[in-house]
Amino acid sequence: MVSAPFESQSVAQAGEVAVIGAGYVGLTSAVCLAHLGHRVVCADVDAYKVAELAAGRPTHHEPGIDGLLRAGLDAGNLRFVLGAAEAVADADVVLLCLPTPMGADGRPDLTALTGVAAAIGPQLRPGAVVVDKSTVPVGTTRVVAECLGRGDVAVVANPEFLREGQAVHDFLHPDRVVIGGEDRDATARVAALYESLGCPVLVTDAVSAEITKYAANAFLVTKLSFANSVAAVCEALGGDAHDVLRGVGYDHRVGHAHLRPGPGWGGSCFPKDVQALLHLAHDAGEPFHLLQAVLDANESHFDRVAERVLALAGDVEGGPVVAAWGLTFKADTDDLRESPALAVLRRVVAGGGRVRVYDPVTTPERLAAFDPDLAVGVVADAYEACTGADVLVVLTEWQEFASVDLTRVASLLRRPHVYDTRGVLDRSELARLGLVARIPESS
Ligand code: UGA
Repeated sequence: MVSAPFESQSVAQAGEVAVIGAGYVGLTSAVCLAHLGHRVVCADVDAYKVAELAAGRPTHHEPGIDGLLRAGLDAGNLRFVLGAAEAVADADVVLLCLPTPMGADGRPDLTALTGVAAAIGPQLRPGAVVVDKSTVPVGTTRVVAECLGRGDVAVVANPEFLREGQAVHDFLHPDRVVIGGEDRDATARVAALYESLGCPVLVTDAVSAEITKYAANAFLVTKLSFANSVAAVCEALGGDAHDVLRGVGYDHRVGHAHLRPGPGWGGSCFPKDVQALLHLAHDAGEPFHLLQAVLDANESHFDRVAERVLALAGDVEGGPVVAAWGLTFKADTDDLRESPALAVLRRVVAGGGRVRVYDPVTTPERLAAFDPDLAVGVVADAYEACTGADVLVVLTEWQEFASVDLTRVASLLRRPHVYDTRGVLDRSELARLGLVARIPESS
């Protein structure tokens, strides 16, 4: 059922909203709910993080967070505390925004979620509503209720659909809000949090809400692997993938969003959620063959991109020098988790490539701390990466790459090979300078 935003208690009358977890979902939710006029308390187990946030300093990079954080603190309707139990005593609604990392068996690890639920259970106000915003397997709402051990507290699923780097925008301009639960009063109280956003609110049961989040991400990766497969066919047949996909995306039944080809998809959410849904479907006796094929296609795409990079570079004694631009899993984030760029570069290194990489936000120290085994050099300048290289590959769509002087790049490369997997460089300029992604006949 899609309903208009609910009639609700006014923001002024509402009690406090507690947000447990100050990661990218929790902190975004906290500052945005404060911005919407709610009284918000946000808790984390990391004392340093809590102190920094309480002083108005965001602990991770996310556009728009800093301004809303300071505004909330200045207005006095946003505060930070150490530990979940501290946060919930006065809360009407408690949002659980906790990590659910992929466990060793590919299923989400719910330890943080169940641990917090057990800890806050005795502290909750009578009649409070606990909301799970983390991406969790079907049935977790019930598990959380059991851990809380409170018959008078309803548990509601309210999955988030925030993109890193655009989380504040996505929170304040949602395509929809999905709320799942059996208790109508509880779902209405959660819907009231978002009332002023004026977006469609889908109220359903908890299981359907939990599946909706997985299904949404599953659809998006299917679209992405489709785009990457079309790009592979275009490269083989000599077509221009970016034009082809633009042509396809103009059909409003398809749309342009998440249809840009790249080196593969990744990040902290898509791979984990795909694995989780595959397990859920398998365990339910309905193996999701299409999604398995999408996952396999992504792995093959990493292989393909790496093979193409090495083929373009050609045979060079001691291994070809490969210049790479971009390391993070997408532009405008410093997040390296499950980065497609890293997946490709690991393969290039394994294939004998000597990689020199430039990324606008990744230092050598940061990469070494993240992946100590990856033998690539990190340089501080896009041109320096290209000096004497046999090929340049663009792996992340940072806008600054679009304004690099390609004439200078052409003069620095040892061979005129540029493979722009993201389509951020000026194609006519590349063509004018003879910078091609064609594999030489001889190789
Ligand atoms: C993703 C979803 O987009 C969010 O809706 C969801 O809430 C979130 O996961 C989550 O589950 O928490 P995010 O991981 O921040 O958000 O990243 P996206 O912007 O979706 O990008 C994911 C990957 O797809 C990146 O590697 C990106 O480079 C790639 N991508 C994205 C493309 O290759 N082409 C595109 O057109 C779009």
